[in-house]
Amino acid sequence: MAMRRFAGKTALVTGAASGIGLATAERLASEGAQVLACDINAGKLSEEISSLQGAGLAVTGHALDVTDVVACTAAVEAVVAAHGRLDVLCNVAGTLYLKNFTEMTDAEWHQQMAINLHGPFYLSRAAMPHLLASRGNIVNVASIAGMVGVPYGSVYSAAKGGLLMLSKALAVEYGSRGVRVNAICPGSVATPLVEGFSPPEDADFNLLSRLMPLLGEHGQPAGIAATIAFIASEEARFMTGSGVVIDGGQTAI
Ligand SMILES: NC(=O)c1ccc[n+]([C@@H]2O[C@H](COP(=O)([O-])OP(=O)(O)OC[C@H]3O[C@@H](n4cnc5c(N)ncnc54)[C@H](O)[C@@H]3O)[C@@H](O)[C@H]2O)c1
Repeated sequence: MAMRRFAGKTALVTGAASGIGLATAERLASEGAQVLACDINAGKLSEEISSLQGAGLAVTGHALDVTDVVACTAAVEAVVAAHGRLDVLCNVAGTLYLKNFTEMTDAEWHQQMAINLHGPFYLSRAAMPHLLASRGNIVNVASIAGMVGVPYGSVYSAAKGGLLMLSKALAVEYGSRGVRVNAICPGSVATPLVEGFSPPEDADFNLLSRLMPLLGEHGQPAGIAATIAFIASEEARFMTGSGVVIDGGQTAI
């Protein structure tokens, strides 16, 4: 029998037009959640949401740039206005940019930080009163780049390390009030983000080869979404402040 761990619950998922975010929106909705699926790419989001709705899933699309604090607050308020509650926030939207450190411009640094770290901050802050009311939880998609240094990915590593620690700090601050906060740290997952992997021309490929999963293949978005769904569900009610590594063994050596 299909699991219905999110029946009667509401979730907000960012980065939902593609890859891990899309798979997460689909997984949570297929288990009964009402999902507000948010992404900056309104065109792709609309196509994907139509297809999920066609499959009978309760997913609504919402154009959102997570770097816009006002829009983040409005997205949270939109879920609560529509469904009266918010149970799960999944901060999935992110972007990876590889460049030699000394060539990184201020604008590039700030934009990467804004998408990968500031967005989750804006959304978590806006969501927290509602999560306190529902005894809900947050799942942040960090990365193994937040645990080990990624060559040419200094800003990405800095942002994802920040997101991992934001998750732990919120877990400590809100645990006794019933809100859980966890992060996941995927390794290489087959999505457009990895397909667009573009290291500098003079990159040292010995360093980059350390980013390959030991298992010899990339992870799949559906597998990552299944882990997110477990963490967000009541089955994981003893879990908070964790950084769950799903990396095909990449960081085991
Ligand atoms: N694919 C991997 O190997 C991998 C590994 C570790 C962590 N991650 C993380 O997983 C998350 C999802 O990545 P993915 O691999 O599914 O990539 P993806 O490129 O398939 O999806 C990312 C989505 O985020 C959206 N997005 C980008 N900027 C945004 C913004 N400002 N506001 C709202 N949405 C925005 C994009 O439009 C896109 O739909 C990211 O946070 C990424 O850092 C991915």
